[in-house]
Amino acid sequence: MEYNAAEVAREISNRWGNLPENIIEMMHDVQTKLNYLPKDVLYEVSHVASVPISKIYNIATFYNAFSLKPKGKYRICVCLGTPCHALGAPRVINALERELGIKCGETTKDMKYSLEITGCVGTCGLAPVIVINEDLFGPIPVSGVSKLLKKYEK
Ligand code: FES
Repeated sequence: MEYNAAEVAREISNRWGNLPENIIEMMHDVQTKLNYLPKDVLYEVSHVASVPISKIYNIATFYNAFSLKPKGKYRICVCLGTPCHALGAPRVINALERELGIKCGETTKDMKYSLEITGCVGTCGLAPVIVINEDLFGPIPVSGVSKLLKKYEK
């Protein structure tokens, strides 16, 4: 996706009033708009919001919702919390890796899918759980992986 870093930063910081205390919201807007946090945009945001770039990077690496690398259109997160792990999440990850032809932590070449693991998302009763963008699914058996991906083919 083409973007102008200074323009993106200005637009987002104007929306949040250039207030340093709104830095997480600003970063969230960048993530939503570009699907990741490009370095050049973060430097611009740091400048307009007067927040040190080191603090921005700390936030970006602390929260799972942020990514410093370009992500696929569909971000597939498999929960590896203890209940999900015990009920087959590692086998679900293997099935997803086979179906997508990538390893966990990678993005398909066509930028359609990213595969990640996450900690407990708070719905352990549905284990094993998968979150695709904003959609949560569970329990997902290994045999259900292929059918689930078909919902996200477009
Ligand atoms: S451990 Fe997966 S939802 Fe809690």
